[in-house]
Amino acid sequence: MTSKQVAFITGAASGLGKKIGESLLKEGKIVVFSDINQAALDEVVKEYQANGFHASGAICDVTNEESMNEAIDTVMALYGRLDILINNAGIQHVAMIEDFPTDRYRFMIDMMLVGPFIATKKVMPIMKNQKFGRIINMASIQAVVGFAGKAGYNSAKHGLVGLTKVAALESADSGITVNAVCPGYVDTPLLTNQMQDLAKTRGVDEADVLEEVLWPLIPQKRLLDVQEIADYVSFLISDKAKAITGQAIIMDGGYTIQ
Ligand SMILES: NC(=O)c1ccc[n+]([C@@H]2O[C@H](COP(=O)([O-])OP(=O)(O)OC[C@H]3O[C@@H](n4cnc5c(N)ncnc54)[C@H](O)[C@@H]3O)[C@@H](O)[C@H]2O)c1
Repeated sequence: MTSKQVAFITGAASGLGKKIGESLLKEGKIVVFSDINQAALDEVVKEYQANGFHASGAICDVTNEESMNEAIDTVMALYGRLDILINNAGIQHVAMIEDFPTDRYRFMIDMMLVGPFIATKKVMPIMKNQKFGRIINMASIQAVVGFAGKAGYNSAKHGLVGLTKVAALESADSGITVNAVCPGYVDTPLLTNQMQDLAKTRGVDEADVLEEVLWPLIPQKRLLDVQEIADYVSFLISDKAKAITGQAIIMDGGYTIQ
């Protein structure tokens, strides 16, 4: 068994999952990046291995329990321990409820709520046996406030906060913490690509979208950087945060306080 802490991150071939994995690698942890996209996953693992980090990859579709179990079995076979689970894989679909395809709604619940459930179910006995574990569920401010057009995402992320609380309660006396991180607007291609649409729907110039549309909603008048989220996840995993469990921690520059 390795003496280093081992992290397993879902949906980690891109965006937040990748950046969180990078931060954990820099802290000297072993990181198993997992994703449904084999080609993107291979690139990420190659990049970090080339830089001398202890990164590996495990293909995993979070909507498939067998696939999840196999990926986590691989982690245990390779390293003999699993200290950190980050349930990160997620997608968005925007439509009013009357136009929201029911199979799409079910899929989003499957991916962002049932996926974290089956991962948590699989790692709980491992972490309880170790008497240590950290589970981070990547939620969103859409886990605490409603957004029109986002029934699938809102429902899944609200549910994820409930799962976080139950998992925290069921493992609180085993050295395990379970928390949800709820970011607001993050400076990612996902958001910047929406600037044109936002400009069109709000009737403002694209150059004015931040000033006219977003800043009135965000008291800090700035987008979050992915590194800020990765840094906060690192804190939650650290010993300094061992009393924090079952929380939905909002990082939103003040969006939800007004
Ligand atoms: N980007 C934001 O602004 C933002 C804000 C708040 C919360 N979040 C949450 O953070 C998480 C990551 O978001 P992101 O913007 O980095 O996303 P992203 O689109 O950059 O990455 C998501 C990854 O998930 C993978 N994936 C898709 N389906 C999968 C499946 N069935 N099984 C396993 N992997 C799968 C994709 O291949 C991709 O690599 C999501 O849960 C999202 O809801 C993001």
